[in-house]
Amino acid sequence: MDSKELRNKFLNFFVEKGHEIIPSASLVPADDPSVLFTTAGMHPLVPFLLGEKHPAGIRLVSVQKSLRTDDIDEVGDNVHNTFFEMLGNWSLGDPARPDDPGRSGGYWKQESIAWSYEFLTDKKWLGLEREKLKVSVFAGDQDAPKDEESAKIWKSLGFRDDQIEYLGKKDNWWGPPGITGPCGPDTEIFYNTGKEWVEIWNNVFMQYEKTAEGKFIPLRQKNVDTGMGMERTTAVLEGKESIYDTELFLPIIEKIRILSKVQGQKAERIIADHLRAAVFLIADGIIPSNKDRGYILRRLIRRSITYGQKLGIEQDFTTDIADVIRHIYGRIYAELNNSKIEDELKKEELKFRTTLAKGMKILERKEGITGKEAFDLFQTFGFPFELTKEFATVANISQFEEEFKKHQELSRTASAGQFKGGLASHSDKIIRLHTATHLMNAALRKVLGENVWQKGSNITEERTRFDFTFDRKMTDEEKAEVEKLVNGWIKADLSVKRQNLPLEEARKLGAIGVFGEKYAETVSVYTIYDKESGEVISAEFCGGPHVEHTGVIGMFKLIKEEAVASGLRRIKGVIN
Ligand code: ALA
Repeated sequence: MDSKELRNKFLNFFVEKGHEIIPSASLVPADDPSVLFTTAGMHPLVPFLLGEKHPAGIRLVSVQKSLRTDDIDEVGDNVHNTFFEMLGNWSLGDPARPDDPGRSGGYWKQESIAWSYEFLTDKKWLGLEREKLKVSVFAGDQDAPKDEESAKIWKSLGFRDDQIEYLGKKDNWWGPPGITGPCGPDTEIFYNTGKEWVEIWNNVFMQYEKTAEGKFIPLRQKNVDTGMGMERTTAVLEGKESIYDTELFLPIIEKIRILSKVQGQKAERIIADHLRAAVFLIADGIIPSNKDRGYILRRLIRRSITYGQKLGIEQDFTTDIADVIRHIYGRIYAELNNSKIEDELKKEELKFRTTLAKGMKILERKEGITGKEAFDLFQTFGFPFELTKEFATVANISQFEEEFKKHQELSRTASAGQFKGGLASHSDKIIRLHTATHLMNAALRKVLGENVWQKGSNITEERTRFDFTFDRKMTDEEKAEVEKLVNGWIKADLSVKRQNLPLEEARKLGAIGVFGEKYAETVSVYTIYDKESGEVISAEFCGGPHVEHTGVIGMFKLIKEEAVASGLRRIKGVIN
């Protein structure tokens, strides 16, 4: 059985169980400033896991494009990759929730586990042997009880005690994908490949919400969220030891081998993984840059070229690989049929090869190089240390590491941190800046008038950037007034409340959103009230996350105000 059959069978199985198929969302989350990429099938469903009504109903199934960069150092072993597809099924709300008439209602642990088992083992579906499976369930802690119910269901399906393991939060708890949001205990299913146990499916019982303070509070509804790894399960079905030996990767690796002068299994796998991710990112509108998503895309492409260099690939090759990737996925993902992918890869490869050539010239003139010199080469030209090590003898490597550490701390840590975690580091700062942004929006409208409308915003660990409609430069007095208002609201320690409301009602409340944006029928609104007067200071359509009280934000300061286009200004604010 191959991935095509797995894809079809998965969707068909859950359609038979009353689910609606929903299409994959973009790799770029629609409304979540704290997370760079869609990391799981549930990610685009967050508002619906929190209580909004999904137009397709309560039971959903999808194959979702996902990207995780936190395991980037493990890419190239048998099971790790950055871009992957996640097969998932959902129940939004337990049976107790009044469901919409005419549609299948919600389900909980019994159905979820029994269906996973049926899909995996029934001859009609995947037909895996039960003896090759084992599962883990949540052991319980101060936030949630031991999951006896799931264990009991597994036992009723014939699992012995030695096939069921109890593990704590580190292993058997999933979510939230960002800093706050829906999460819960999970039960994970592992397959024995003969060499190792590989996790293939995760069933999460989402009945909690993590708050900005790190508390777990019960959700209004109980949801089921599952995720099965397409690549790993394909490897199991094809009887392959590694995901990189499946037909999802093999054609890419074969192409790399044709271009290589030397053998290097790990390098081949890294290139295949990274370029796959890069192709899908460009298809979803990201272009290489020095910040945020663009920075990660740039790193993925440059790492591929660096590893290509190690394999002796000196000519441009990224677009050749993109061709192969399109061949594998083009029929499933129409967005891959876009010449922008080639254009961006070509541009980035050209840029990086110029850098490489300069660095190589310097290296060729030297016998050996010190760690400090290697760092200078990296800092001045962006020449990768991996290559310096490959082509020269580096004395005193620790010098490089020391300098590099300093550089990381000093440099735009938001981007650097995001490369590792998918999340910016010091995420609580981002949450505080996010709430500060709402206050700033409210203050701008108070000071400059109600024709100020948000056109966009972007938050890093260091600052918030906010674009708004306004037709002239702000005066110094106006800027001071905005700062004064925001700091006053922060000092007053106002509470920040989230509500899910019908769009109509939200508009009546005076909630505002991003100019020109379309909103769903039910929207999540964040409101900040004046404690004494009860007056609404800010009400915005927003998915969060936010602090619960403005007092924790810190001192707010504007640092820059400039024009971006006619009638459009950009302002930046910081907190400390
Ligand atoms: N959201 C769960 C996961 O990604 C299913 O593992």
